[in-house]
Amino acid sequence: MAKPVVLVTRKLPDEVEARLAGLFDARLNTADDPWFRDGAEITRRATEAGAAGVLCAAGDPMNAETIAALPASVKIVTTFSVGTDHIALDAAKARGIAVTHTPEVLSFATAETAFTLMLMAARRAGEGERLVRAGKWEGWAPTQLMGVTLQGKTLGVLGFGRIGRELADMARGMQMTIHYHDVQRLPPELEKGATFHATEDSFLPAIDVLSMHVPGGEGTRKWLNAARLAKMKRGALVVNTGRGPSVDDAALVAALTSGQIRAAGLDVYDGEPRVHPGYFALENVALLPHLGSATIETRAAMGARCIENLEALLIKGQNPPHRAA
Ligand code: DGY
Repeated sequence: MAKPVVLVTRKLPDEVEARLAGLFDARLNTADDPWFRDGAEITRRATEAGAAGVLCAAGDPMNAETIAALPASVKIVTTFSVGTDHIALDAAKARGIAVTHTPEVLSFATAETAFTLMLMAARRAGEGERLVRAGKWEGWAPTQLMGVTLQGKTLGVLGFGRIGRELADMARGMQMTIHYHDVQRLPPELEKGATFHATEDSFLPAIDVLSMHVPGGEGTRKWLNAARLAKMKRGALVVNTGRGPSVDDAALVAALTSGQIRAAGLDVYDGEPRVHPGYFALENVALLPHLGSATIETRAAMGARCIENLEALLIKGQNPPHRAA
């Protein structure tokens, strides 16, 4: 029997591509050519190949238009990401196309990135690195680049899902106190003593560091706006490793400039890879290029999840295990 055709939009780790090529008639993008940025090109290639599956990634334009134009041969869209905000899930559902993603395997790595940014913001690490790299460092000084400690501070986790809870575990090791705000309170074994806030009005003024772990989409668009920033303690820190559109960039730039927010660490951006230009002029913001899940181990595990889902539906005729729609 012929192997099912799978169109792969992005360059993936070598071992993932090798497994895909073994199981499927995989149409790889080994050079990571930028055709993945164009929905019409994705559907053209899927049609030409007679694809049964499309393996896409975070940021690919799998919007309603792209989904509607996919050929009838496509049975599954599997994304190399946990986030599905780039996929029109309703449109896929309406066409009977299964959508799968990669939950669980990237929680620790993404929490590590949030933790890195939290420390970079607190300890002015980006500023220090730029100083040394520019050859401008003149030696140790008693008042040079003084930051704030995280020890004894209160971490506020917005969205206490898997990633937020991994971050909370790491922060407990830094002797931080954990508060969280989410749509509902979690059971005690997941809370592990963290303080739940049912409202942002009690949450935001109670915390020293806000770490954002909310999904993209209209429900969270510009969640961190000027009004919410004003409710935070003066001099608090902000970290975002969730999705860029949940921050109102102009408002955060203003808060970083006025000192309402002491420093921030960002891994995701509204309209990325475009970054709000206001951040570039600020020393008190650490900017990473969406590195959340970028470890060798995690990217291999994400690939394995994608393959598991494709194999279930296209080879074994089973319901894929990690469905988002
Ligand atoms: C995801 O998986 O959604 C990330 O943002 C990409 O690592």
